[in-house]
Amino acid sequence: MNRKSVRAIGIACVLFMLGWLTAATVSAADREKLLSDPGVYGTFAAFRIETDWGKLDQATRIANLTSFRGVVEQHREKLAIDTYLMRGLSDHADFMLRVHGAELKDTQQFLVDLQNSAFGRYLTSVVLLNGLTKKPNYVPGFSEQLKSDLKGPSESGPYVMVLPIRKDTEWWSLSQEKRAAMVQEHTEAALPYQKTVKRKLYHSTGLDDFDFITYFETAKPEEFHSLILALNKVKEARHNRRMGNPTLMGTVRSLDQLIEVLAQ
Ligand code: HEM
Repeated sequence: MNRKSVRAIGIACVLFMLGWLTAATVSAADREKLLSDPGVYGTFAAFRIETDWGKLDQATRIANLTSFRGVVEQHREKLAIDTYLMRGLSDHADFMLRVHGAELKDTQQFLVDLQNSAFGRYLTSVVLLNGLTKKPNYVPGFSEQLKSDLKGPSESGPYVMVLPIRKDTEWWSLSQEKRAAMVQEHTEAALPYQKTVKRKLYHSTGLDDFDFITYFETAKPEEFHSLILALNKVKEARHNRRMGNPTLMGTVRSLDQLIEVLAQ
């Protein structure tokens, strides 16, 4: 075993011990409910780490990352917090947090506490998107066959893509019936990808500068690429005024895994 791997194992052990000490003091939010219920706020916060971070010695980096872990664990009582590594796949950010909460002010407090922590000094917030989960608007009117086709399980991660979407004013002035027909066409075109692409939709009209945040996980980015090409062909896509910009791409990581990468 070379010196580099001994050092990496050492860092992992220290981080594990620190994590265990903090995690043991907090109770977990009802994650399942926050991730599946309608009426839950979803916030995506992406950060860049300042170049000064790389100049810090290992011990100082670990101490700062312990403050990061502490803030996350402290807020896990009320919030479901997911962590993603963006570095290497996105030029926008080094890492991203997806926060689900019943109250937006809890999410705000978490992000303020993070920025005020020792680690926060090295962070620049580069993207912040807000949305809300809702009951399906169109699915209840679909045929029983289409409803059951949509029910199958989807493979998750490790790749994640997040794209904000803004519709044009014409879309919102169409009748529910016309929109439903176009969303049905969208659904039928997307169905071949239901198994390989996991999705979640957030409504953002009035909460941000766009109408939806679309969130996807897949093991096969090429499937996601083909899905977007298939969806670009349907009528509903003509009403997209903005899609992406930014497109955030990264990989799903546990908090421990993310901290380990940032500590190196
Ligand atoms: C696995 C692939 C996909 C499937 C099976 C799928 C299916 C659906 C379904 C069933 C709805 C209607 C939800 C409701 O009843 O409210 C919907 C809405 C929507 N989808 Fe997809 N979708 C997929 C991929 C995508 C992709 C790749 C995008 C864009 C990047 C997208 C953007 C949207 C948007 C913006 C809505 C909301 C439309 C509205 O409420 O006006 N979907 N999708």
